[in-house]
Amino acid sequence: MHTTVGIIGGGPAGLLLARLLHRSGIDCVVLEGRDRTYVERRQRAGILEQSTVDALRAAGAGARLDREGLAHDGIELRFDRRSCRVDFPSLTGGRRVWVYAQTEVVKDLIALQLKDGPPLLFGAEALAVEDAGTGRPAVRYRHRGREQTLTCDYAVGCDGFHGVARAAVPAGVRRAYERTYPYSWLGVLADVAPSCDELIYAHSPRGFALHSMRSPAVSRLYLQVPNGTDPADWPDERIWDELDARFAVDGDWTLGRGPITAKAVLPMRSHVLEPMRYGRVFLAGDAAHIVPPAGAKGLNLAAADVIVLARALARLRTSGDAGPLDAYSDTCLRRVWRAEHFSYFMTTTLHTAPGQSPFDTRLQLAQLERIASSRHAAAELAENYTGPPLG
Ligand code: FAD
Ligand code: DHB
Repeated sequence: MHTTVGIIGGGPAGLLLARLLHRSGIDCVVLEGRDRTYVERRQRAGILEQSTVDALRAAGAGARLDREGLAHDGIELRFDRRSCRVDFPSLTGGRRVWVYAQTEVVKDLIALQLKDGPPLLFGAEALAVEDAGTGRPAVRYRHRGREQTLTCDYAVGCDGFHGVARAAVPAGVRRAYERTYPYSWLGVLADVAPSCDELIYAHSPRGFALHSMRSPAVSRLYLQVPNGTDPADWPDERIWDELDARFAVDGDWTLGRGPITAKAVLPMRSHVLEPMRYGRVFLAGDAAHIVPPAGAKGLNLAAADVIVLARALARLRTSGDAGPLDAYSDTCLRRVWRAEHFSYFMTTTLHTAPGQSPFDTRLQLAQLERIASSRHAAAELAENYTGPPLG
């Protein structure tokens, strides 16, 4: 089989890229290693930046998002039993974010793709990307027990951190930058109305907590826990008691409790692989970079990469100008490193490291106090959280 753009991975990056290319009349094939149910149920991110929402609308995947997505104009920071709201539109010239789960984004994109193409093969596991440095890369993959080859003009690795596309960038060319963190998140879904209208990011002496949501009837909550934590050690009652303690604030506020329907521990790391292109092979999304989740950037960075790539391929096709395609890695990496810094900042400002000194805690509180009292500091957070425009 031959196609113009061979896409490995049917997560948000691969699926959105396929839609954007299809709209520009560029043919492509998506190879996804897992089955549809698995891909649609994977619980992950929940916050979409303005430019991600704009791209989903442009890809024809905005209808349910516009009906069911919850537009948010700010977040609340809690620290020292106090509460501080960061208002996005007034600090960013009108930008906001949407709560719409990654599971729903993926479902919408898959439904569109299966309705009017281009081809999306489930259970098609890429084994290797070959001939990356030539004019005709080839993706070797296994589908229905048979090994096959997809040749393409361009191959795009949207296959996440554990995918095979990263290996197409030769060891002598690639540079990896990495940081791990001495804590994880215990994430839960609960059948209870959110106890807040906007997300709450809480710094507390007991560690970080985040109150998010999936719908007016479903809450999504996270607790900082030690690395290696077994979710079985966290019965529901313990989770609610700990959330109560970490969200404690002066004044009237109660955390509503309800049945917990899912529980998982998420380790966190920062990772960037450079360059994001080798020959005719491009990397996008988690295949090229990982951020810790406190900045809500992972899914949005994945979307930004493929928006840049789809535009560059369309430009080459319509005007023969390869400039934007040649600049792909540099263009993406500028946004990636800004998001890496912001995610690191949110993580280290809000979490309590094991053995953290009282001095370090006072520095964190001084930083949070600065955001609460300075329009400049609050605007810095708001601009990063809502994401820079893509131009
Ligand atoms: P992925 O979503 O990982 O998609 C990659 C796809 O490629 C998958 O469907 C996979 O099955 C497929 N694939 C892999 N290998 C192959 C192969 N060899 N052949 C074919 N297909 C293959 N971000 C946030 O902002 N907030 C969060 O709360 C949050 N929680 C997360 C929780 C977890 C457990 C993880 C792993 C990530 C989380 N993220 C979060 C990050 C966010 O979900 C990712 O940044 C986002 O999914 C990136 O999209 P992607 O398409 O690049 O990669
Ligand atoms: C969610 C996840 C995040 O990492 C975040 O910063 C905000 C919200 C969520 O899953 O809803």
